[in-house]
Amino acid sequence: MEINKVGVLGCGLMGSGIAQTAAAAGCTVVVREVTEELCERGFSGIEKSLAKFAEKGSITPEQRDEIRGRITGTTGFEDLADCDIIIEAIVENLEAKRDTYNQLDAICKPETIFASNTSSLSITEMMTATRPERQARFVGLHFFNPVPLMKLVEVVRTILTDDAVYESAVEFAGKLGKVPVRAGDKSGFIVNRLLVPYLLDSIRALEEGVGSIVDIDNGMKLGCGHPMGPLTLLDFVGLDTTYYIAEIMFDEFREKRFAPPPLLKRMVKAGLYGRKSGRGFYDYADPKKPTPMSLV
Ligand code: CAA
Ligand code: NAD
Repeated sequence: MEINKVGVLGCGLMGSGIAQTAAAAGCTVVVREVTEELCERGFSGIEKSLAKFAEKGSITPEQRDEIRGRITGTTGFEDLADCDIIIEAIVENLEAKRDTYNQLDAICKPETIFASNTSSLSITEMMTATRPERQARFVGLHFFNPVPLMKLVEVVRTILTDDAVYESAVEFAGKLGKVPVRAGDKSGFIVNRLLVPYLLDSIRALEEGVGSIVDIDNGMKLGCGHPMGPLTLLDFVGLDTTYYIAEIMFDEFREKRFAPPPLLKRMVKAGLYGRKSGRGFYDYADPKKPTPMSLV
């Protein structure tokens, strides 16, 4: 099945990157946000990212404009009705996602594939918000942040996913220039199963006074060759999103390694979401020179 028209739900960190990547691969993209302001905010992120690629010469100024021209925004669902695939990247909350799929199921054409970019929720639990005929056309497409740069997509199937639909999703990930890996519908799939306990442990290490924010980050950057230390990466992913992911994975596995540490919860309650809100483990008043916060 040819995938040419792509609907994206949410134009935050991930939705904007997915929309950009799909448009760069030649697809027509419609992005749905809850308000026009949020849509515009997401689009300005896309424009900045495209400008970086153009500055580096990886795309021409004409290609930059063509890619941007393939993306439109909306606050309604109707504009997504004839999409070949819908990729959902809204807040990590099961009820919000189920509600959205339920509304879309009623208006999308029968062939539309429904995909979720969830980090930790069960694809099966989202799938059951749609009619039985749609359930075979449901997959997970888990991208990585920042989407335009990260090569991986986890392609997830449920026990009801149709084989041909699954292969179309794998092929589509390739069309986007990504490397697909196949994963089963277990909370966190492959990468977050391994990454999330590590990130949460770095917060526990900070809470226990094992090292400072900068020393924990430098430890993993310089000692293990990671591109970012874990606390910098947490700020990058979003502390709110990480908190929801940890709650969901702890609920699924009932293992302490997935439990959100108290400091993470306090930071989220205090509105410290990381880079996107300006403060997290670091203060981004000067984004080029983040300074560590005083938290413990
Ligand atoms: N769009 C276009 N270009 C971008 C960009 C973007 N969004 N972000 C950075 N760049 C460019 C920069 O302009 C820079 O270009 P030059 O080399 O030509 O100068 C280049 O990419 C490298 O950027 P930086 O020098 O700013 O920083 P860096 O070398 O550290 O690379 C990074 C940035 C690729 C993000 C790297 O730090 C990295 O790989 N970090 C780890 C990211 C990671 O682990 N992501 C997974 C998170 S977990 C997840 O996504 C799953 C989940 O469910 C939570
Ligand atoms: P974000 O907070 O940056 O963006 C979410 C966006 O969704 C917001 O702009 C919000 O206004 C919008 N939204 C909420 N309800 C909506 C609805 N009903 N319809 C349309 N838009 C709606 O979050 P994010 O980091 O982009 O995460 C989105 C999803 O991607 C989550 O499921 C998350 O777990 C997953 N994910 C995140 C990362 C990451 O590194 N942040 C990586 C991979 C996957």
